Amino acid sequence: MNGSPAIHSPFLAVLDGTPLNPPPLWMMRQAGRYLPEYREVRAKAGDFLSLCYNPELATEVTLQPIRRFGFDAAIIFSDILVAPHALNVGLRFETGEGPRLEEVNTPTRIAALPDELDPAKVQPVYEAISKTRAALPAETALIGFCGAPWTVATYMVAGRGTPDQAPARLMALRNEALFQRLIDHLVEVSVTHLSGQIRAGAQAVQIFDSWAGVLDPLSFERWCVEPVKRMVEKLRALHPQVRIIAFPKGATLEGLEKLSALDVDAIGIDWTVDRHAVRDRLSPKVALQGNLDPLRLIAGGKALDDEILRIRRDFSGTRHIFNLGHGIRPETPIAHVEALVAGVRRAL
Ligand code: CP3
Repeated sequence: MNGSPAIHSPFLAVLDGTPLNPPPLWMMRQAGRYLPEYREVRAKAGDFLSLCYNPELATEVTLQPIRRFGFDAAIIFSDILVAPHALNVGLRFETGEGPRLEEVNTPTRIAALPDELDPAKVQPVYEAISKTRAALPAETALIGFCGAPWTVATYMVAGRGTPDQAPARLMALRNEALFQRLIDHLVEVSVTHLSGQIRAGAQAVQIFDSWAGVLDPLSFERWCVEPVKRMVEKLRALHPQVRIIAFPKGATLEGLEKLSALDVDAIGIDWTVDRHAVRDRLSPKVALQGNLDPLRLIAGGKALDDEILRIRRDFSGTRHIFNLGHGIRPETPIAHVEALVAGVRRAL
């Protein structure tokens, strides 16, 4: 558990330019309700946010999937909505209903957002990162993350998740200048939050743009590509060595191509895109991360095994990090995750 930093990390090696067979593996939402040991700690913490803000417990649940499955990367246990919460936007999680936020959709409310993140909210995250890094095997990389400005804005404007995030889309159409102010604010604080995570020990950061798929091409360029581009430029200036993964869920091939032209190290892809087209058209400067449909992990059997093989074959010889195309769902059987690990690591 305590090798030197020189020990090779397969995950970082792929991000840094080397294709590997077998590919490194981790899963989005790998610390979560499908694990009995997570449910136990979560019950002890009380609610979800108390777990996020408790460095010891957040460290423990971050390490759980590493101990059980030996994934190549850990992702710090937190949430993308911690950033708005640290801007004093009221936040609670209703069991079974998802997040509820204080709505931020008026000029007054947007102008009142503080410039600094509340240290009481973000310091526990950084402390959990330091603790986790110290406890991880040297070859297991540690990932920090934030939501992309667009995705975080969709929750702030609506105060919740909605089927197609229409409230934020409407605000962007009706009052472009006001929406731009919100996005600009989120660009700044997201860079600050990622920078804090990197200083605490995160070796890579992932920018989750979970709602990138609801925008027309022009709006995608303006609200997804442009803000992420500015974030990447600022981060690179502060931390030249950090690896950056952009995950624009639901983006079209053209959208993915645009993001791959930014100074990022990898692009996350969901299961709806054609792997050959992605391989051929995205910039060869980026690694590809994905793209197993989380439902195949629930189904198991041939639906799972065949797709693992196809993904490995389609990406063989390229810089590929095996992952799901979105987070693992709570109803996923643990035996299927074990089958995934075996299928991704077996000799081909
Ligand atoms: O990947 C990991 O293991 C790290 C932890 C992580 C969580 N949320 C923990 C979590 C990460 C990376 C996230 C990101 C996140 N959070 C996103 C982007 C990725 C995506 O899923 O699209 C979004 C949109 C959120 C906002 C959010 N958090 C929602 C909509 C919900 C409710 C839905 C749900 O799955 O329950 C959450 C809650 C949440 N975040 C849980 C976990 C483990 C479940 C809370 C619980 O234990 O009850």
